[in-house]
Amino acid sequence: MMATPIDSSISVSFLFSAFLFLLLCSLNKGYASSDESTIKNHFHTIQISSLLPASVCSPSTKDHSKGASLKVVHKHGPCSHLSKEKANAATATQILTRDESRVNSIQSRLSFNLVQKNTLKNSKASIPAKSGSSIGSGNYIVTIGLGTPKKDLSLIFDTGSDFTWTQCEPCARYCYSQQDPTFDPSLSKTYKNITCNSAQCSALGSATSASPGCATTTCVYGIQYGDSSYSVGFFGSETLTLTPSDIFPNFLFGCGQNNRGLFGASAGLIGLGRDSLSIVSQTASKYGKFFSYCLPSRSSSDGYLAFGKEGTSGALKFTPLLSNSQNPSFYFIDITGIKVGGTTLSISQSVFKTAGAIIDSGTVITRLPPAAYTPLRTAFRQQMKQYPMAQALSILDTCYDLSKYSTVSIPKISFLFGGNVEVPLAANGILYAGSASQVCLAFAGNSAASDVGIFGNVQQQTLNVVYDVAGGKLGFASAGCS
Ligand SMILES: *[C@@H]1O[C@H](CO)[C@@H](O)[C@H](O)[C@H]1NC(C)=O
Repeated sequence: MMATPIDSSISVSFLFSAFLFLLLCSLNKGYASSDESTIKNHFHTIQISSLLPASVCSPSTKDHSKGASLKVVHKHGPCSHLSKEKANAATATQILTRDESRVNSIQSRLSFNLVQKNTLKNSKASIPAKSGSSIGSGNYIVTIGLGTPKKDLSLIFDTGSDFTWTQCEPCARYCYSQQDPTFDPSLSKTYKNITCNSAQCSALGSATSASPGCATTTCVYGIQYGDSSYSVGFFGSETLTLTPSDIFPNFLFGCGQNNRGLFGASAGLIGLGRDSLSIVSQTASKYGKFFSYCLPSRSSSDGYLAFGKEGTSGALKFTPLLSNSQNPSFYFIDITGIKVGGTTLSISQSVFKTAGAIIDSGTVITRLPPAAYTPLRTAFRQQMKQYPMAQALSILDTCYDLSKYSTVSIPKISFLFGGNVEVPLAANGILYAGSASQVCLAFAGNSAASDVGIFGNVQQQTLNVVYDVAGGKLGFASAGCS
């Protein structure tokens, strides 16, 4: 804890030094048969245009009005009012570069926790924490209401982190430009500061991977993401409105006074991880830690994020969510195999078990152990031989020039999960297009066999993904949205 002068002109420099302080604390094979029915069963025929980002928003016609359901749009997509901000436009290469920095920071968070555990066992030495998660930029946005009267805020939703924050007036140090008016706690009847000596303040450490600070008596949070984006500000509580009948008083969140980084024009971030401060935990009394979402494809409309069991479909296939005491905030899953064009690749089970895997809404491209990615790439290239290859796109090394085609036929890919679950990926979950002349296999290999696998958001597109956190299982169903 730090003692702080009350003078408001000093509080600005305090926030900056609090941020530096927090930073210091947080240094922490198969062959395609020519047989027609095989082609039909094991190949997708797709239009190239469906892989490219759409320019027109076509809102979903599905009714997700049951339960507490929020609309999800892609941050850069045509349905996002945020994408009108020029600052928000990102090229495929930029998106993939930021994705790599997010993945690096997830890897370092995971390996740090391993080191920390072993170090703590053997000595009292404390080692600095590495940076937290990166925000990446292939992200999805939901709109929630905060305060009384309520103000609507568009936040990035992230299952790979826990802490929810929004930029707040008076933006004592800095606020980046956002689309919605900046939240002003002084205009709300229900905002309260959390005090430094409270249990809630102590809980910040695990949710933000940084020790809290203290300004006079107000608890100060700081969270830094892997790409050096950060938010620092007052820890407060406020009335959260998800829908008119889903209102949560005293929701704990960060009221950001110094915010910089790649948050686009969003107003902040909503953390859906497993930590006690995540929105999932804070709303557990009503929803029992049960939520689901469908991420829309780049070429399409909107998906949803829903809390509670109400309205989830019956066609779900469930795989266990694994617990990992060293990394309690991530959602670990059990990937057991991959099918390409109807044939299960020959990959030893130990390849997936060595590093384990997580599902993450904020990582764009699925990362696989090298010994799983290589056979996937080989099988895919084999079945795509008829198409001319193109140069690599950032981390994607298997690309095709499809500019002379209007439709192509690509092998289907399924992921196999523990519990005998097979999840066929949508065609949009197999390819990632920079342009029609550079359409790539949307997977990447990790650099080390020990790096965690990540089931990313391109692969999750259009799937209904259901998190039954209390029940310890994750459900998948196809065609949850388009
Ligand atoms: C919250 O605490 C900060 C820092 O002490 C202070 O500047 C601000 O006015 C407080 N807000 C409320 C509503 O008490």
